[in-house]
Amino acid sequence: MREQKTVSEQSSKANVPATDAAQWWRSAVVYQVYPRSFSDLSGDGVGDLAGLIDKLGYLELLGVDAIWLSPIMRSPMADHGYDVSDPRAIDPLFGDLATFDELIRQAHDRDIRVTMDLVPNHTSDQHPWFSSALGAAPGSPERDRYIFADGRGDDGSAPPNNWTSVFGGPAWTRINDADGEPGQWYLHLFAPEQPDLNWDNPEVLADLQTTMRFWLDRGVDGFRIDVAHGMAKPPGLPDLEHPAEVLHHTDDDPRFNNDGVHDIHRAIRSVMDEYPGTFNVGEIWVESSQAFAKYVRPDELHLGFNFRLATVDFDADQIREAITESLAATESVGAVPTWTLSNHDVPREVTRYMPTGDDAEGLSDDELLAIGTARARAMIMVELALPGTAFIYNGSELGLPNVDLPDDALVDPVWENSGHTDRGRDGCRVPLPWEGTEPPFGFSTETDTWLPIPAEWSSLTVESQLEDIYSMLSLYRQAIELRYARLEFSGDTVEWYGAPEGCIAFRRPGGLICALNASPHPVPLPPGRILLVSTPLEAGLLVPGATAWLV
Ligand code: NOJ
Repeated sequence: MREQKTVSEQSSKANVPATDAAQWWRSAVVYQVYPRSFSDLSGDGVGDLAGLIDKLGYLELLGVDAIWLSPIMRSPMADHGYDVSDPRAIDPLFGDLATFDELIRQAHDRDIRVTMDLVPNHTSDQHPWFSSALGAAPGSPERDRYIFADGRGDDGSAPPNNWTSVFGGPAWTRINDADGEPGQWYLHLFAPEQPDLNWDNPEVLADLQTTMRFWLDRGVDGFRIDVAHGMAKPPGLPDLEHPAEVLHHTDDDPRFNNDGVHDIHRAIRSVMDEYPGTFNVGEIWVESSQAFAKYVRPDELHLGFNFRLATVDFDADQIREAITESLAATESVGAVPTWTLSNHDVPREVTRYMPTGDDAEGLSDDELLAIGTARARAMIMVELALPGTAFIYNGSELGLPNVDLPDDALVDPVWENSGHTDRGRDGCRVPLPWEGTEPPFGFSTETDTWLPIPAEWSSLTVESQLEDIYSMLSLYRQAIELRYARLEFSGDTVEWYGAPEGCIAFRRPGGLICALNASPHPVPLPPGRILLVSTPLEAGLLVPGATAWLV
């Protein structure tokens, strides 16, 4: 076990009692860094670890407790790092182990914890295990680390079942045997370059535990577990009863959320428990709150990444229901709730909140953007007012919208694998604008960045927002600071207030009141003294698309 880092012992935040310091993550603000898009110091147009170290001062200024790094391990990058060929090495695109160690050291010096993605459901097809499986015979120990099966039909030319990949197309790919003849099929719930591991094989868990200790011993403070509702597969691999959409699945889908996954989480947790002060958060795409709650029972994941606020409309009833159900789910098992407005897989909130259909009638693009931005301001104040752990996706604090990229710029494997029917997730992964008046806005010295940055982002750079007290960045900084400094944010529950139609209002036990106006009309505020508003009041009223914090 590593020595306790001083960073884990500190609890400078007013609303976190010092005795809870080992559970610092219970009320933390965690900032997701998508490494390709954050900051590029090597000048190749792709972000890297040196670029991240260079910007730690910015993250300290923003006031976040921790970063979550999307995958930085060695990878052929078929899915931008979610296809890992060596889970215990840093990909040269991002740096090396020495740079990673330096990142941890410098982040800890600034009281910022470092957490990283782990990808246990699948490996890259370039992983040595998969290469040896391809060269081995059916039924061999090498093949048993993955999910190989004979095809259906007399000649085995039909896939073993009807599963489709989350990225589109079949979830099975057939390989040739050593003699060049068509052989077995292997399962890949994502791209063909991401073969699924066989979690019934104990070697798979043992290797993951080795990987976890490798990073924890280097000082990592936790993990985000990719596809945490995957891994276990149902006996007999039954067919899908109805076709699944690209990038979506329902709770009756046999590909995910199989009961065996909970034993895997218990085994993962036992390693985490060797390292006090660390946590793991699982990516859990399930619809039912009961199903979600199972993952965060006391001996499984510390936290479940909760997509509810990232998927509801800007609608008071939907937002209130998302909050109530999320709180009930975590409370039922004594777990901590989590919140986010977006990540690298879902459209950015500014764009999601723009009016559509009849509501958009007669509005210019600039007006739509202004409304989406105002609503995103309101919603980060709702998120940060809630008890639990708040996740922020890099660029949210700048109010970045999704980008409509041209076809020839798209690199998400979803675009190819879906046969160009789904444009994928590139639009929310465009590099961050830091400074200056034209792309690449200080992100890199290379103008040909891995995804093009729109020229319109000159008004959204960090530089242009830092000194502007009305900017999104300033709102984030103020809101995060208040959340830490004010005792009114204490308490694990929310009490709902009566609110005008189309609005919500809730109170934290410490005394904070949060009021959101998602209606089309200005509304009066609940009684109290205003701490922060997302948009200035008009005639003493909370304007449409705004949130106020009161005490
Ligand atoms: C979830 C990750 O967030 C996503 O980006 C990735 O494509 C899939 N898992 C497959 O690893």
